[in-house]
Amino acid sequence: MNIFDTHAHLLDEQFDADREQLLVSLPEAGIRHVMEACCDEAGIDRVVELVARVPYFYGSAGVHPHSADEFRPETLEHIRTALTHERMVAIGEIGLDYHYDFSPRDVQRDCFDAQLALSAELRRPIIIHDREAHGDCMDLLRRYRGRLSGVMHCFSASYEIAKECIDLGLFVAFGGALTFKNAVNQWAIASKLPLERLLIETDCPYMTPVPFRGKRNDPSYIVHTLKKLAALRDMDEEELSEILYQNSFRAFGIE
Ligand code: NI
Repeated sequence: MNIFDTHAHLLDEQFDADREQLLVSLPEAGIRHVMEACCDEAGIDRVVELVARVPYFYGSAGVHPHSADEFRPETLEHIRTALTHERMVAIGEIGLDYHYDFSPRDVQRDCFDAQLALSAELRRPIIIHDREAHGDCMDLLRRYRGRLSGVMHCFSASYEIAKECIDLGLFVAFGGALTFKNAVNQWAIASKLPLERLLIETDCPYMTPVPFRGKRNDPSYIVHTLKKLAALRDMDEEELSEILYQNSFRAFGIE
């Protein structure tokens, strides 16, 4: 089976003890590619270093809304430089988080907008984090209509918003939450959206799927999200995984 984990944080300290063993074991578990999502400016060079030494990894560079208050105009130059590496393909994760509000909301919006403008200028895909900020997030995305590509990560909004994201040129990614018992709304959305715009991801070490919920997540657990999606779509797992795998390359503009 071919699997692309389209959102992971292997640089998280929760992997410090066994990161190297995991990096070796993942391809044996069918994980052909992983997108390492960057969260803050200090992470940019670490993602570049990881991607440069692990050939099946791709990476993003960007500032997460949690760290928006550390974003400076020079950060854009740092992102731009990181993206000159051939497997540094996306700007992310960027967006708005009104659940934790770790940075003031106006600062989050400015940080998101500046990185959206950079993605439009460079024609690079984005990885969007939108938590409890759907209205403002969509308002900003609409301003870039016709110039957007990339992924709505860890999708948690409505079917209408998912449709609009697709209309704006984005892919919609589902993670471990799809396997949760109470994810009835997500099941309905994931079974109706056009297959050619769906992705799966882990967001590891977070969002661990059932039956490992409560433990640390890693890319090999993505098969549980794949199984759930295959059941929802009444599809063969292998056939679905191949479609999602091909979608991943299109989402990130990888040849
Ligand atoms: Ni993430």
